[in-house]
Amino acid sequence: MNTKVEFCDPHDISKHTIKKAAELLKNGELVAFPTETVYGLGANALDPEAVAKIFIAKGRPADNPLIVHVSEIAQLSGIAKDVPPIALKLAKKFWPGPLTIILKKKESIPSIVTAGLPTVAVRMPSHPIALELIKCTGTPIAAPSANKSGRPSPTRAEHVIDDLSGKIPLILDGGPTEVGLESTIIDIQRHIPIILRPGGITLEQLKEIIPEIEVYSTGDDPKIEKIPLSPGIKYTHYAPKASLILYLGNISHISSQIVIDTKQYLNENRKVGILNLIPHQAYNLIKKQFPMVKIMTPSLKGNLDEIATNLFANLREFDDLGIEIILTESVKPIGPGLAIMNRLKKAANQIREI
Ligand code: TXA
Ligand code: MG
Repeated sequence: MNTKVEFCDPHDISKHTIKKAAELLKNGELVAFPTETVYGLGANALDPEAVAKIFIAKGRPADNPLIVHVSEIAQLSGIAKDVPPIALKLAKKFWPGPLTIILKKKESIPSIVTAGLPTVAVRMPSHPIALELIKCTGTPIAAPSANKSGRPSPTRAEHVIDDLSGKIPLILDGGPTEVGLESTIIDIQRHIPIILRPGGITLEQLKEIIPEIEVYSTGDDPKIEKIPLSPGIKYTHYAPKASLILYLGNISHISSQIVIDTKQYLNENRKVGILNLIPHQAYNLIKKQFPMVKIMTPSLKGNLDEIATNLFANLREFDDLGIEIILTESVKPIGPGLAIMNRLKKAANQIREI
């Protein structure tokens, strides 16, 4: 299949381009489009045959459900039943934006969308192209991240081209995405609302509305069920092709250990990359002595929002350069740091506590 890439300026949306994309969706085809978090791979959520194409194009396991995207809160009534007041409160506060809410599903949503679950994940993205596309299509759009299953989510159209070229008819190129990590997923169905996946809306922001909210962890917390609450959690995710080693602990200890380990891996003739998240001078000598070591700094000031924006693009860049081992610093799990650490832990082949 020939994949067309159409540029679409988010600040001056071409109605003509969106209309063509909406026609494809209405005809049961797939369209990749930008959201404020990452690029999504969309299909008409009410058309099971169209949704099946998403699983094939991505190579996604059939038991991993999709997020349904809407452009208006009123669309909830056609998707979910018994929408509790807290869901509406969250939607009014954070939509359009990077928050996905788990609700009870209505019959109208085909079971392929929710992988047979009785619940459905819903979000209203804030990206103007995504909103216009949903409006113009006139139906909710089911969309996972537009990457090949297991790869880091795409934050630029080029990433979608790398993963899905030849498998889908159209990619809308709206430039780099702003948030860079996926939406926060919140499950309000249970006794204590729980964050299943930290993301673009922070725990601190959610606590202002739900002070008792908890974060799902696979640890031994007896309050939390052992089975994964969100099917996607059990899959390796966000992983670059290189081995990623994540260092936890005090940053000055981490950076000295990374310097030692870099030299060790170079001795073994491995291609090494360093993901430098915190500003410091510890790698100056490496830069001088070993210019072949690729040091990537997603934010020169160590700004967490900026790290989130650039993280996945940096991981893909390491792959493009043929890096074999990525030595990665860590950040404090506050604000966007919680989602950054969640993605790094999932991408890691090894975690070293220093
Ligand atoms: O920011 C985002 O959320 C992006 C953009 C495109 O909207 N989408 C995205 O979708 O990240 P995806 O498919 O890559 O991740 C969706 C996650 C998966 O981990 C899936 O298991 C979970 O949402 N999920 C979907 N429906 C669910 C449900 N009913 N209950 C629990 N988890 C659900
Ligand atoms: Mg994904």
